[in-house]
Amino acid sequence: MVQVRRILGSEWRQLRQLRLAALAGSPDAFGSTWARESELPEADWRERARAGALGHVSATYVVEDGDGKWVGLVTGLRTAEGGGADLVSLWVAPTARGHGLARQLVESVLAWATDQGLESVRLWVTAENQSARPLYERCGFVETGAEKPLPSNPSKVELQMERRLAPGPLHLST
Ligand SMILES: CC(C)(COP(=O)(O)OP(=O)(O)OC[C@H]1O[C@@H](n2cnc3c(N)ncnc32)[C@H](O)[C@@H]1OP(=O)(O)O)[C@@H](O)C(=O)NCCC(=O)NCCS
Repeated sequence: MVQVRRILGSEWRQLRQLRLAALAGSPDAFGSTWARESELPEADWRERARAGALGHVSATYVVEDGDGKWVGLVTGLRTAEGGGADLVSLWVAPTARGHGLARQLVESVLAWATDQGLESVRLWVTAENQSARPLYERCGFVETGAEKPLPSNPSKVELQMERRLAPGPLHLST
């Protein structure tokens, strides 16, 4: 059975493997690069997994297939200002695409951000990404009008999208 779940703090090796596969397979979808992240020390991956599992600062969700193999990933990161979150690192393995898994990953981040009482979730998507842009639109994101060069390939343009959130349980008035 395929399941979308939060990462465990101990799963840094799987996280490293999947993230590097994403960067190698879809270089123009991400601001970072395989060359950069393949050099990161073990301590950084341990910290990413730990924070993504437990923290209120970030939340990482993975897709695990029926054989226990990881085929999808996304992270929500609370912004420095604290009122919102960024959605980053969304990737689904080519063999697992077209089954609604990315949508479940995005909705997991939206649910986490809502639970945290955050106001909005923002992301950057390459203008030419014709699979991710419709996905985000289906999940309620709209373009903010902001754009910038893709850091890993400045010949391409990234667009910012935002999804405003309804007040979560922590913010309901009594
Ligand atoms: C973008 C990506 C995550 C989509 O993963 P997925 O699991 O296939 O997506 P889903 O099956 O959940 O699709 C959900 C919606 O996204 C849209 N979508 C997904 N793939 C699409 C495609 N190739 N063409 C058009 N729309 C697409 C559709 O609106 C779909 O809704 P529907 O099923 O009701 O039609 C995947 O293609 C991927 O990993 N791409 C490379 C990395 C990437 O671009 N990451 C985003 C960085 S910003």
